[in-house]
Amino acid sequence: MTKAIRIHEHGGAEVLRWEEVAPGTPGPGQALIRQTAAGLNFIDVYHRTGLYPVPAMPAIIGNEGAGVVEAVGDGVSEVAVGDRVAYCMSLGSYTERRVLDAARLVRVPENITDQQAAAMMLKGCTAQYLLRRIHPVKPGDTVLLHAAAGGVGLIACQWAKHLGATVIGTVGSDQKAELARAHGCDHTIVYTREDVAERVKALTDGAGVPVVFDSVGKDTFTASLDCLQPRGLMVSYGNASGAVEPFSPGVLAARGSLFLTRPTLATYIRTREELDATAADLFAVVGTGAVKVEISQVFPLQDAAQAHRDLEARKTTGSTVLLTEGEKS
Ligand SMILES: NC(=O)c1ccc[n+]([C@@H]2O[C@H](COP(=O)([O-])OP(=O)(O)OC[C@H]3O[C@@H](n4cnc5c(N)ncnc54)[C@H](OP(=O)(O)O)[C@@H]3O)[C@@H](O)[C@H]2O)c1
Repeated sequence: MTKAIRIHEHGGAEVLRWEEVAPGTPGPGQALIRQTAAGLNFIDVYHRTGLYPVPAMPAIIGNEGAGVVEAVGDGVSEVAVGDRVAYCMSLGSYTERRVLDAARLVRVPENITDQQAAAMMLKGCTAQYLLRRIHPVKPGDTVLLHAAAGGVGLIACQWAKHLGATVIGTVGSDQKAELARAHGCDHTIVYTREDVAERVKALTDGAGVPVVFDSVGKDTFTASLDCLQPRGLMVSYGNASGAVEPFSPGVLAARGSLFLTRPTLATYIRTREELDATAADLFAVVGTGAVKVEISQVFPLQDAAQAHRDLEARKTTGSTVLLTEGEKS
């Protein structure tokens, strides 16, 4: 048996329960891993509240983790017993041990710790597909990135800057603005008191930006469209403030033939090749020091409820990791 955080119904942070569960044994193509750390992500809140479905109750939530392979089933070639591994977008990471498809695991390079891996697999792979594939950022671009001091945010602003962009980041407070500027943001907008579209127009001599990366959703969606150049790209990739309300496609025409995408990481790491390439790109940019993974909060896994409360209350910055027994320091 092992210990895990499970939900039996959707709701507030109080539905997260620390329980004994059976991790199972690995079948063909699967691996059993002893987890050292799980990453905290806003998607965990969506699974907890029911905004995104879970396949069945009770459910172990969590989508990001790192640890050591303890056993493998038949036909596993991707990893071996003893390997340090990490993964993302495989529901069930809030646990001390778990079985999952070996094809979803990547080996963690020696220069990256388990905690860093758990802090960046989901957030960093997201930054990778946003900045390198949805809108390949190039020198001379100006990009707008919301929630710039958050988990995805701090990684993405450093990476966009490294790719040569001028980065405009929105944040909820002056302290977060300072942090975002220390991580690659050229300009910050405190969107709780400033008009985002007005500031972006002023910063771009009225031109607007070619791309907006919007993870806040409901509260920022319209302002984000107003920040775009004609034929610009709106990347709506999250709902931290709630889901975007339905709207007519004519809204995109009226603002200058805009493009809109609503991507999810799962689609961008669908194949083993895509997962490997995405993780390799991430590990490389972290390995050179161009992107630093800031673990600003650490909780014991059993205190996941407090971690959720802090994330939802906008009290966290950068990445948060949940440590299993034996890893707590
Ligand atoms: N589609 C994908 O593939 C994908 C993958 C990963 C993450 N995401 C999305 O990216 C976003 C960031 O994820 P994360 O895990 O790194 O979280 P995070 O950015 O560390 O935390 C969310 C941040 O959103 C901001 N925010 C604005 N309005 C908020 C509200 N009403 N309630 C709570 N927070 C609010 C807060 O920053 P301020 O105080 O600065 O406003 C908060 O710190 C989430 O929306 C997540 O769903 C999407």
